[in-house]
Amino acid sequence: MNVLVTGAAGFIGSRYARLLLAPDAPDAPRVTVLDKLTYAGTLDNLELGHPRLEFVQGDICDAELVDKLVADADQVVHFAAESHVDRSITGAADFVRTNVLGTQTLLDAALRHGTGPFVHVSTDEVYGSIESGSWPEDHPLQPNSPYSASKASSDLIALSYHRTHGLDVRVTRCSNNYGPHQFPEKVIPLFVTNLLDGHKVPLYGEGRNVRDWLHVDDHCQGIDLVRTKGRPGEVYNIGGGTELTNRELTGLLLQACGADWDRVEYVEDRKGHDLRYSVDWSKARDELGYRPRHDFTGGLADTVAWYRDNRAWWEPLKRRVTEERA
Ligand SMILES: NC(=O)c1ccc[n+]([C@@H]2O[C@H](COP(=O)([O-])OP(=O)(O)OC[C@H]3O[C@@H](n4cnc5c(N)ncnc54)[C@H](O)[C@@H]3O)[C@@H](O)[C@H]2O)c1
Repeated sequence: MNVLVTGAAGFIGSRYARLLLAPDAPDAPRVTVLDKLTYAGTLDNLELGHPRLEFVQGDICDAELVDKLVADADQVVHFAAESHVDRSITGAADFVRTNVLGTQTLLDAALRHGTGPFVHVSTDEVYGSIESGSWPEDHPLQPNSPYSASKASSDLIALSYHRTHGLDVRVTRCSNNYGPHQFPEKVIPLFVTNLLDGHKVPLYGEGRNVRDWLHVDDHCQGIDLVRTKGRPGEVYNIGGGTELTNRELTGLLLQACGADWDRVEYVEDRKGHDLRYSVDWSKARDELGYRPRHDFTGGLADTVAWYRDNRAWWEPLKRRVTEERA
């Protein structure tokens, strides 16, 4: 079996590719990775040389290339996206192009070749913001940022290919991920690497925003359950991490890095900043047997240790961002 995994030179896709390439992975599938290697992708995330891995550098909007790769694949797990909310606020064009048109290009190819399941990896941010309680999968979509609006658009297009054409599409919506290999512009690796370098960390507003933090490997476990046991045309929320305000998270990161609150710089809040996300993941639990396995305290300590021990991975990526902004 050949699984086409898009965007697997990035954070979550690369962890998912590792799961499929593990020696004990059921069916030992071949894995074809399609990734454009944008600023967010790096070959250092991939197990190049693994006998079951093929890497193809390319764009999911390139219809000819996508057609060829999908024709050779039995299944698709689609991660490739522009994923950073702040970047979508300063410029949304790449988000619409990759997240919407790129997804549609992949779906068209899957339809031509009858390829499925097609797992479309999405986010809880499509639901908007919720003060209390948690969203079930049938909650109306009310995305607020250009990033989440582009993801919501791609979810709807993916589901329309199931309803209109009967394509075996399955959608996952997950809460915030943390873990090794996350690009150091996202809050946890940004704060940890800044603290390790003796710099300050920028906290938005008063740090009141609440996020549910899930270990990346728990997310990948949930995606794989959806691929192997999920039902066509269904959406599955994946959550069950730990809810924290950004202020609480900052306190934990300061403590883990042996730093004080004088290292925190309060910056103007993000435009349209959603206050709280919370998914109801009982459907994935009851139907697929999904359960997060990582406890947050241990997972965070391991993540901080990984960044401390892997400067050679993140220093060039941080330099890339600094040069891009100069
Ligand atoms: N990070 C989170 O907390 C989180 C939570 C829920 C859902 N998601 C979703 O999971 C997916 C992966 O997120 P991530 O955090 O790993 O992202 P990431 O930014 O780390 O990686 C994205 C990857 O996609 C590639 N890519 C971008 N545009 C491409 C294009 N046009 N063609 C081919 N490849 C392209 C990049 O090179 C990169 O390797 C995204 O779809 C995101 O919306 C992320």
